[in-house]
Amino acid sequence: MVVRIGVIGTGNMGADHIRNLQRFVAGAAVTVVADYDQATAEAVAAESGARVAENGHALIADPDVDAIIIASHDSTHYEYAMSAIAAGKPTLCEKPLAPTLAECEEIVAAEAAAGGNLLSLGFMRRFDPGHTELKAAIDAGVIGPVLRITGASRNVVSYPGTTSESMITNSVIHELDSIPWLLGSPVVEAAWLAGRASSKVPAGVADPSLTLLRTADGVLTSVDMYANAEYGYDLRCEVLGEKGTLSLTDPALVAVDLGLKRSTSYPLDWRPRFAAAYRLELGAWVSAVAAGAPTPLATAVDGLAASRVADAVLTSMHESGRWVTVAR
Ligand code: NAI
Repeated sequence: MVVRIGVIGTGNMGADHIRNLQRFVAGAAVTVVADYDQATAEAVAAESGARVAENGHALIADPDVDAIIIASHDSTHYEYAMSAIAAGKPTLCEKPLAPTLAECEEIVAAEAAAGGNLLSLGFMRRFDPGHTELKAAIDAGVIGPVLRITGASRNVVSYPGTTSESMITNSVIHELDSIPWLLGSPVVEAAWLAGRASSKVPAGVADPSLTLLRTADGVLTSVDMYANAEYGYDLRCEVLGEKGTLSLTDPALVAVDLGLKRSTSYPLDWRPRFAAAYRLELGAWVSAVAAGAPTPLATAVDGLAASRVADAVLTSMHESGRWVTVAR
């Protein structure tokens, strides 16, 4: 069976997903696209051979669409997720599930009322070969019990309008899912701190910042976020255990030896770093949709769990960095 997919949002992620589906995923056909910016949608449609729908809601209702990818701006996820659930079509929603906790709760309730197994969340680190190897080694007890995780998330430059809050709900949200997934233990407490800010951000915006997470197993994790690091997209994770450490290695595949120096390159953004993860994620999703099987991706409930932690981090941000208990 070929799964006919409609993609809402044809910006960086939507266009990337379409290319990956067409080049690397058997049994998938991108039939319809939609974007608020009609010209962007037309350009992607011309490249992919898909048809352009009038808007996201028309795409969801389109009879040539069996399954949906929501890759439009975060602020649109709620309305399209609710509409896709009402239509009963399997949907891969990019992270975050929605920007506010109340919206996430409504989506999860609507999906459950519709019988469940409709929504999948784009937490693609769960498919990244580096992260899956880390998890397998943790689970196998290679370094003994885990004591600490130290993560760093750095972008070259932030989007215009980025705030201290959106760095949590849009970027750090990945760690808010990947850390409890790696440890197999939910985040129970969170705190947020910032010090001297970069001169590159407007007054009042905190960049870099430090998010602290305590999981139910007692492990303390720190996530160092810097959205305007200039030097490259850089994602780090070191897991300290009683007997040793596990670390993601430099993802560069080639080293250049030249002029008495060795160098490797950083990607400009996350797409090259997570290219394999996106392909594996899309392949797993399409296979499950075709088989009518439970999603192998993060679920709407996982998206809600990450948003509950994000909510605690934001409360800490607004209340002098105090530890905040994550709501259950
Ligand atoms: P982008 O800005 O490149 O693309 C977003 C697109 O959404 C734009 O073309 C815009 O015109 C369109 N859009 C805005 N409002 C719309 C509406 N009401 N209906 C239809 N289209 C609308 O942003 P990007 O980087 O592609 O991000 C898209 C989504 O993917 C976001 O939710 C973002 O958080 C998520 N994302 C996920 C990543 C991951 O690694 N899983 C990485 C980067 C982004």
